Amino acid sequence: MLLMPESLHAIRWNHLLSVYFLPLASAALVAMFVVWRLHREDLEELTTELKRTKGLAEQRERERDLAQEEVFRRLYEERELNKEKIQFQAKLAEYEKYAALAQLALGAAHEINNPLLGILSHLELELKASSDPERRTEIEQCISGAKRISATLKGLVNYARPGPLILSKLSLHRLVSDTFGFLENQPMLRGKQLENSVPTDLPHIRADANQLSQVLMNLLLNAAEATPEGGRISVSASKLTFIESVEIRVSDTGSGIPPDVLAHVFEPFFTTKRGKGTGLGLSISQAYVRSHNGDIRVDSVLKHGTTVTLTLPIRQDETDESRKEESEVVV
Ligand SMILES: Nc1ncnc2c1ncn2[C@@H]1O[C@H](COP(=O)(O)OP(=O)(O)OP(=O)(O)O)[C@@H](O)[C@H]1O
Ligand SMILES: [Mg+2]
Repeated sequence: MLLMPESLHAIRWNHLLSVYFLPLASAALVAMFVVWRLHREDLEELTTELKRTKGLAEQRERERDLAQEEVFRRLYEERELNKEKIQFQAKLAEYEKYAALAQLALGAAHEINNPLLGILSHLELELKASSDPERRTEIEQCISGAKRISATLKGLVNYARPGPLILSKLSLHRLVSDTFGFLENQPMLRGKQLENSVPTDLPHIRADANQLSQVLMNLLLNAAEATPEGGRISVSASKLTFIESVEIRVSDTGSGIPPDVLAHVFEPFFTTKRGKGTGLGLSISQAYVRSHNGDIRVDSVLKHGTTVTLTLPIRQDETDESRKEESEVVV
């Protein structure tokens, strides 16, 4: 059979296609498939690796934040500790000063008081024996001077060695109204409004009534001296929220205390009332409040008034009482 040239051509193409092209194309396809698989596996591995690295980076970031927080916390704690250390050192220095002063005061009081009592009794005998009015006035002036020295010494001893606490259950409202009763007729309180804002249902506290009323008296006298006629002096109190203590506030609408004076008001013999005050009122009050394990502080705004705040525990435990008895013997 004779073949046409076109058929020959087609046969050759078919032959070429089946012998070379198709296997080549299949091989290429297989190769592409393999490459694609490899590539995909690589890509998956890469994605997992990327995710792992990202997770690790996030974890490191969290760890860094935590470490930063810890550093800040430590720094803050260190700063607070330093602050406490400074406060403690200042308190220690104050107590050391107080102890030295107390020793000095007790020694001086002892040395002065005995001869003073002798002088006083001698002066009283002289007064009885004398009939000359001029001489009597002179002796009376000497007696009043000696009594003033004796009162100052007594104050000094009270400051240096507050007596052992005689504890009883006290209603603060009652204590304040009794103290107001004592002071009502004092000329320095005339024209000034006295206000007892202590709630009647405030928990009773265990304290030494005599010492506490002396503290109140000192604070009220200071307030009265600083407050002009028409002014107001008030006492308020409340129970503190988280601790078993009460806060008593004595406020006045008086002259206020300049900052340079405020820094010294608890120092014994510090006074701005030359000739009239001994400067022991607040020092003794502080000693009494401290022997109750309490605290006293003064806040003041010049020309507006002053508030003295006492913080006192509601109860005094027995061990503290015995410690106080002991400390009374030691000082
Ligand atoms: N409520 C107040 N208003 C203004 N100043 C005050 C007040 N309380 C105290 N002071 C100031 O504090 C100083 C010390 O007070 P403190 O009671 O210790 O002594 P004093 O009143 O001067 O004398 P004393 O109380 O011994 O008679 C006072 O001289 C006064 O300057
Ligand atoms: Mg006073």
